[in-house]
Amino acid sequence: MDLTRRLAGKTCIVTGSGGSIGRATCLRFAAEGANVVGCDVASANAEETVRLVAAAGGTMISVHPADLTDKTACAKVVATATDRFGAVDVLFNNGAMAYFDWIDSIDDDTWYKTINQELDLVFLMTRAVWPELVKSRGNIVNVASLSAWAGIERLPGIAHASAKGGVLAMTRQVAMEGRTHGIRANSVSPGTIETNQTRMILDDAEWSRVQLGRAMMNRMGQPDEVASVVAFLASDDASYVTGTDVAIDGGVRAW
Ligand SMILES: NC(=O)c1ccc[n+]([C@@H]2O[C@H](COP(=O)([O-])OP(=O)(O)OC[C@H]3O[C@@H](n4cnc5c(N)ncnc54)[C@H](O)[C@@H]3O)[C@@H](O)[C@H]2O)c1
Repeated sequence: MDLTRRLAGKTCIVTGSGGSIGRATCLRFAAEGANVVGCDVASANAEETVRLVAAAGGTMISVHPADLTDKTACAKVVATATDRFGAVDVLFNNGAMAYFDWIDSIDDDTWYKTINQELDLVFLMTRAVWPELVKSRGNIVNVASLSAWAGIERLPGIAHASAKGGVLAMTRQVAMEGRTHGIRANSVSPGTIETNQTRMILDDAEWSRVQLGRAMMNRMGQPDEVASVVAFLASDDASYVTGTDVAIDGGVRAW
């Protein structure tokens, strides 16, 4: 096996392909030889990822705008992938949007839209792609979070933590149900990764001290550092890995 092209000939769906971790993973999957199928509700960002992958010599198509809280959009992504490439081998369930408030002030709308946009869409994409993964004996990589494992001081994450805890549990259930079909399912739990949404932490000394100080490495992670782990889990290098979660957090959970 060519270790630098572990996904050659594989068709990989990446949700939230216009975002930071999604884009880094599209570039990594394409570099590993995959046919990448992106999708995002944000069209301009999704388009830019397609451009960057093409510029790097990779193969990528994209469905956008695609709001994956709508099951017809999920079905369209899967149909587009099979029409173009004939199969789906990998689903990287990455796209999500969280809303934050504390338990004593959160309203119903903030709770429900976070569950919908962080948990429901993972289920909807999984169900939509399942028949294709049964055919291909493929695999799923979900994005959970450090928030699924620990409360984070200063982060009003009651809905976010609940949704990501659901992703973690769903991954184990899906791995169990997939075992008879040769389907693997795993999740990654990023800590604080430097993206447009987290960069502000660096501007706030107290946030920075509390948040980054939790990591043994005392720095933010980079989207590439998530993508490389996801590429491993999606590849046959992880052929005996299922039903588990990989922390990508610079050591937060270990001390
Ligand atoms: N950045 C971090 O520190 C961090 C930490 C832990 C977990 N995560 C998780 O990593 C994943 C990617 O986050 P990111 O930091 O790259 O954020 P991001 O905002 O850059 O990317 C998320 C992408 O998902 C898309 N998206 C959101 N809702 C969608 C929907 N309903 N349908 C289709 N697309 C939708 C957005 O448009 C965006 O492009 C998320 O699941 C997030 O919860 C991030």
